[in-house]
Amino acid sequence: MERREFFGSFLATLTAAATLPEIARALEDYMGSLKRELDGITDDANFWERAQREFLLQPGLIHFNCGSIGATPAPIVEAHKAYIDRLEENPYAQTWSGIGSGTFDTIQQTAARFLRADTDEVFLTRNTTEGMNLVAGGMRLEPGDEILTTDHEHPGGVMCWLHMAALHGVRVRQIHLPTPTASKDEILQLVEDGITPRTRVCSFSHVNTTTGLRMPLAEIAAITRPRDILLACDGAQVPGMLAVDVKQLQVDTYASSSHKWMLAPKGTGLLYVRKEVQDRIRPVSAFASGGGSYYAPYTAGGGTRNLPVLLAHRDTMTLHNILGRERVEQRVLQLNAYLRQRLAADVRLTPVTPEAPELSSAMASYRVRGMAVNTLFDELKKRDIIIKRTAYNSVLLDNDIPNEHVSIIRLSTHIFNSEAQIDRLAEELADILGTTTSVGSGSSAPTDFVLRPNYPNPFNESTNIRFQLPQAEHVEIAVYNAEGQLVDVLQDGWREAGAHQLTWNAAERASGPYFYQVTAGSDREVRKMLLLR
Ligand SMILES: Cc1ncc(COP(=O)(O)O)c(C=O)c1O
Repeated sequence: MERREFFGSFLATLTAAATLPEIARALEDYMGSLKRELDGITDDANFWERAQREFLLQPGLIHFNCGSIGATPAPIVEAHKAYIDRLEENPYAQTWSGIGSGTFDTIQQTAARFLRADTDEVFLTRNTTEGMNLVAGGMRLEPGDEILTTDHEHPGGVMCWLHMAALHGVRVRQIHLPTPTASKDEILQLVEDGITPRTRVCSFSHVNTTTGLRMPLAEIAAITRPRDILLACDGAQVPGMLAVDVKQLQVDTYASSSHKWMLAPKGTGLLYVRKEVQDRIRPVSAFASGGGSYYAPYTAGGGTRNLPVLLAHRDTMTLHNILGRERVEQRVLQLNAYLRQRLAADVRLTPVTPEAPELSSAMASYRVRGMAVNTLFDELKKRDIIIKRTAYNSVLLDNDIPNEHVSIIRLSTHIFNSEAQIDRLAEELADILGTTTSVGSGSSAPTDFVLRPNYPNPFNESTNIRFQLPQAEHVEIAVYNAEGQLVDVLQDGWREAGAHQLTWNAAERASGPYFYQVTAGSDREVRKMLLLR
């Protein structure tokens, strides 16, 4: 069955579903069929191409900023909408009977399995910022106690400690992280050096928001745990990117946002608090009803919650399990490695992300020479490429740290991205930064034949094929389907030197991969494009 029909029948089942559990079952069936289909795909590229069709991203839009906000797959969005619709038809019955707080517990269990923790250690929050605040606010800190963190933290992971500084007179100290950081040992030494007899908490990002550096948490825990220092981790960037196992990481607390890499609906997060430290971190609110456990306020007993969003949060975790969490991790890392390799030759971009795989992640960041980061961001946005512009600085907290403010761009690669998109990014960056001749600028004559990635790709109606010629040439552009049959000839004649663009209108064509071959004089190149409906 074509994906469109398959999805259509799922939508029909959702419409017919009378209760929230029926919606959940319809989604489970859909995901089960998707899994069977994916299991039948042996080629990795085809596997991910199929998975990409589940996303709602505008055709042509290239989203390299999952680190800020993810894109929720269509089946989850549809199920989420159906949960809301059905609930509002009979709010009391749909919330409390048939589904109710028992369901809350099952969501918590799924979340706990996702982080590989026990159920009474994982709580459903709205985001990392909330999780970090629940940890910081729950600690009994005394004036003079120290919190050790780095100069690469996100405000969502560090403002909670500054708040404790303002309320209780604790001192927040920052490690100055070199960019790029050279080795694990360098980090461990910095942590050792930063700890004093007053250190009560080490608070670090698992993957930091600026450079994508992956902190060696298990090794850091070997330093903190014997000294009874709490290792609080900001994992905003990680679940859904890496297959997180909090027990292996040996952290004491782990706060994360599920609306980033996990691709869950917005306003969803997880908080892990290791059982053995729960007596050190008091709940910051009192429970409304239900069970007597210490952390009851953070469970079903914590007052009425937004059930549709929690159910869709759970469903997204199930979808990750279906895709295979290790497989997702491998894919996003592989895409980022390809991106780094593609951008390595661009002399205007200086990497600030460590090269060692154990210290890197699916985010790569660069300083930009010769252009303001904001201008580059705007230029890429005009070309439908979304990136993150950010900065790190050491000015906030400690006067003895060099005062530095460095603007960077950050590029996140998730499963909805592809090698073709990375090729396009590399070409557009080169074009904007002037590291090659710009298409259409007319400012200088091209010296080589260049075939640029078609745009948009994937596409759902038409796409633009772009090339440049060093001199007037006879040009032939032919389009082939996946079986190698010729389906269109877009050009067969002379073209002047310079930049050219032709549109292939595929309104009458079936979904799937196509190839276009451009022959210009003695040059010939073939590229792949994907028609999605
Ligand atoms: C490392 C880190 N911590 C915390 C946050 C804040 O996340 P949220 O707004 O979901 O709380 C971010 C957001 O990008 C982040 O990168």
